Order: sequence, then C-alpha cells, then structure tokens
Amino acid sequence: MRFDVVTLFPEMIEQTARCGVTGRAIETGSVRLAVWNPRDFTSDRHRTVDDRPYGGGPGMVMKVQPLRDAIRSARAEAPPGAKVVYLSPQGRRFDQAAALAFAECPGLILVAGRYEGVDERLVETEIDEEWSIGDYVLSGGELAALVVIDAVTRLLPGVLGDAESAQQDSYMDGLLDCPHYTRPEDIEGRHVPEVLQSGNHAAINRWRLKQALGRTWQRRPDLLDKRELDGEQLRLLEE
Ligand code: ADE
Repeated sequence: MRFDVVTLFPEMIEQTARCGVTGRAIETGSVRLAVWNPRDFTSDRHRTVDDRPYGGGPGMVMKVQPLRDAIRSARAEAPPGAKVVYLSPQGRRFDQAAALAFAECPGLILVAGRYEGVDERLVETEIDEEWSIGDYVLSGGELAALVVIDAVTRLLPGVLGDAESAQQDSYMDGLLDCPHYTRPEDIEGRHVPEVLQSGNHAAINRWRLKQALGRTWQRRPDLLDKRELDGEQLRLLEE
C-alpha cells in the first residue's frame, strides 16, 4: 500500500507515521509513504497557498493551483487505481468498514486542508471521496490523515503478527472490545476475573463475548442496532 499525503506540514505526517506499527510497516516495506507540500508548487516570492474568501468573512481559503499541482504530482507517482481522499469535517464519517475498504486500494492520496478549507472547485475536480474522522473541527486534516493511515495499515496482510491480529480488535466484529488484564492478579484488592485464570477456553471466549456485548449495549447501543445478533449472542445479552 502506498500513501501520499498532500500537506503544508509534511514533518507532522512523517514524524508521527515513523512510530509504532505504522513505522514498522514502512521499514519492512508493507507501506510506502510520500509527502507533497503545496508550497513547493507555488511560483510567487511569498510561496502563497491561501487567499481571502469570496463573499467575505473570517479566515482564509486554500487556493486551487498549488494544491492541484501537488495532487497531480502525487497521482503521477501513485499506483494506478489510487484514490484521492480529502479529509474534512464535511465528509462521510470514517469507520472500520471504510478502513477495510481503503485497505483494498493500491494507494491513497490523502489531502489535508488548513485554514477555513479549500476552494470548492478543487474538491469538484481533483477529489474522489471526502471523509471526516468525527463530528469535531480540527485545525487541519493532518491528524485525520494519520488516523486513516494507522487504521488502514494495521489491516494490511503481514503488518500485525498473529498475537496482535487485527481480527481480535474492537469493532472487527462490530462490537466494543472486552476488558483486558495482566499480572499481578491482585491490585489493591481488585482481582482478575476467575474465569480468565480457569484455562477453559470455551468459557473464556463466552465471557469475553458477553463483556463485549454488555459494554456495547451500555456505551454504544447504536452499534447493536446496526448489527444482527446470532442466537448465542442474544442469550448472553439476556443472561
Ligand atoms: N479537518 C478538520 N476537521 C476534520 C475532521 N473532523 N475530520 C477530517 N478532517 C478534518
């Protein structure tokens, strides 16, 4: 998978992506990452990337030309079939299903805006899809691009070992994750649930599923509305 990120803050992307799972995926070649700074595609002395909004009002708008040239340069180097994704609060909500779909793409060109946003004509002509990471406004799309890179990278074959398999992640089954414990067994009188020490794997799996269902029902009932529960899951929820 190749990620190209169009951003005024390339160091923010490069430094963060170098850490942890994404960093290892880059080092081992599962992921390639390139950054494109629209400022490098300007021709004036001030390297201007923004201008005042038509119609007035506060803030600035990112100009078409530097962004368009940066996106087109990225496209020329990205694999055929790469998708151009603009991160903005106006986009569709990014979730695990979207991450799974993106993981099937040969490449993603992630466009991070700054200021009040980008000239709408750029969205109309250069962008394939517009996505938001949540209902809040960030100062720019960089953190959103990093969220997409992380969520997608961990789904790529060979990136996570068996022990940390994405299959066991929260949301992979449409549910929140169950609680986890490690040693010591007693922390100031709070003990690890006995079943987890029983060695009975069927019982452990039932307990984990029940916890996951219970938490989801309490904290995120909207996730259960979307999802068909099977017979055992319904029984566990009612127990
Ligand atoms: N840019 C600013 N806010 C954003 C958000 N919530 N999601 C994606 N990109 C953004």
